[in-house]
Amino acid sequence: MRAAEIQSDLTTVLVTEEEILAKLEEIAAQVAVDYAGKDLLLVGVLKGAVMVMADFSRALPSSVPMDWMAVSSYGAGTKSSGVVQIRKDLDTDLHDKHVLIVEDIIDSGLTLSWLLENFASRGALSIEVFALLRKPDAAKVQVDCRYVGFDIPNEFVVGYGLDYADEYRNLRDVAVLAPHVYS
Ligand code: XMP
Ligand code: MG
Repeated sequence: MRAAEIQSDLTTVLVTEEEILAKLEEIAAQVAVDYAGKDLLLVGVLKGAVMVMADFSRALPSSVPMDWMAVSSYGAGTKSSGVVQIRKDLDTDLHDKHVLIVEDIIDSGLTLSWLLENFASRGALSIEVFALLRKPDAAKVQVDCRYVGFDIPNEFVVGYGLDYADEYRNLRDVAVLAPHVYS
């Protein structure tokens, strides 16, 4: 996709890369304090959380293992179906681990509440959530999210890992996708 085409597909930039990186530093410092002396495991949710995991994990002061889970609840549309499928499970046994789930965005909350329930039976010592973005007005279920980067309006956004039909993920900023792209 050409740069001019990308420009016409986006409306407002909601969060810049610079703002994201500053926020990640802040949250990483808090996480380092909260998990001092604990066996922390970062669990990223593919594929959306790839960028946030890369930058967040490197903002942490110490070495931390990471694992990945791939689930899908979306298909090619812009609304969560609530039906979650595991496409790739964890490689790590969660027993005796303090798990921090790293997510790109909480929209309806359906995916995360399903994940939290799924993880609850795996013997972790604790399970918390860090979501870079959250849409408070889209919540269908309440998800207990310990760390949140930015609350954003209820609009479909792309960039910094977030995609529409697998496009726009590698854009540096988070921007609103113009409705003409998906309607
Ligand atoms: P739910 O609704 O279950 O959604 O909280 C979670 C997953 O849906 C994707 N999602 C989005 N992806 N722009 C995107 O590119 C968005 O505005 C958006 N809202 C939700 C995302 O994968 C998230 O993990
Ligand atoms: Mg996701």
